[in-house]
Amino acid sequence: MSAIPKALLKWYDANARALPWRVGPKDRKSGAAPDPYMVWLSEIMLQQTTVKAVRPRFEAFLARWPTVEAMAAAALDDILGEWAGLGYYARARNLHKCAVKVAARGTFPDTEEGLRALPGVGPYTAAAIAAIAFDRRAIVVDGNIERVAARLFAIKTPLPKAKAELKEAISAVWPARRSGDFAQALMDLGATLCTPRNPKCGACPLAACCAARAKGFAESLPQKAKKAEKPTRRGVAYALVNAKGEMLLERRPEKGLLGGMLGLPGTAWTTKPAKPTQGGRKDAINWRHAGTVRHSFTHFHLELDVMSATAPKRFRPLDSQQWIAPEEARLPTVMKKAVALANATRSA
Ligand code: ADE
Repeated sequence: MSAIPKALLKWYDANARALPWRVGPKDRKSGAAPDPYMVWLSEIMLQQTTVKAVRPRFEAFLARWPTVEAMAAAALDDILGEWAGLGYYARARNLHKCAVKVAARGTFPDTEEGLRALPGVGPYTAAAIAAIAFDRRAIVVDGNIERVAARLFAIKTPLPKAKAELKEAISAVWPARRSGDFAQALMDLGATLCTPRNPKCGACPLAACCAARAKGFAESLPQKAKKAEKPTRRGVAYALVNAKGEMLLERRPEKGLLGGMLGLPGTAWTTKPAKPTQGGRKDAINWRHAGTVRHSFTHFHLELDVMSATAPKRFRPLDSQQWIAPEEARLPTVMKKAVALANATRSA
């Protein structure tokens, strides 16, 4: 084993973060093995959110569905509800599809290639599961690892162009043994010492072999190509409340953003000014402008005008709509913000 994995694994043995899906180096030595279900679930959840945000949500998922068989037997709606706020609902849908597939075949595939064939498992996730759950020598490269590699090998090519170069460079030192621990050690190093700003090089186990540190420009890496500005889309959402304090909600179409989740009725979100639609209906409703909610998605910012009103007596929901007490509905974050704004202005 070369100097880099040797020094890093030694550091990991003493400093690994205790994470609920992880079997730490001490437990591994006493024979404990990682649970592929937990590794898979955590990697899917961690694709879009930080370790800090995922931790309690992972524990809630695991308490509710402790095995892949339990998740396969769950109703998709329950999984979508538990996923609320984690973004990209297609992931939650694939989570269920994947659980059904794995439960049917009995176990998770234990190779990168086999894992790649599962719904929702892309190249990164397949490599991470193969390495962490099955100790395969798979090259795992996430954002943290890219940063560590860029510094370690002083790679100045800007991201995303540098991706292949970074993977190749780290691959050259990737060990055959303890591949999963090496991946997690790189992740922990990136999260705790080799941070984007103010890296703590003085405490780094790899400082002596870090090319960027030797040249004095570790903090400036990785370079990033300028991103195009995110466009802003606008839309209107209608918060209608009945005499019981329930809100009119409708399920969003399966395909597309927030697919299959509950939300307020409203216009499409476009870069052109949205045309108010009276909540899609002609009923005479006395709408008030409650305010504007701002929310950022990966590819655009949203400015959502929230209209608020009390339903007239004879109001009948459309088939796609239902009255629900908003505190009982698991809503995506943007819809939670819109409901809170409507409620605040109503009680003001
Ligand atoms: N980020 C993505 N996967 C991770 C893992 N297994 N441990 C820590 N951080 C991670």
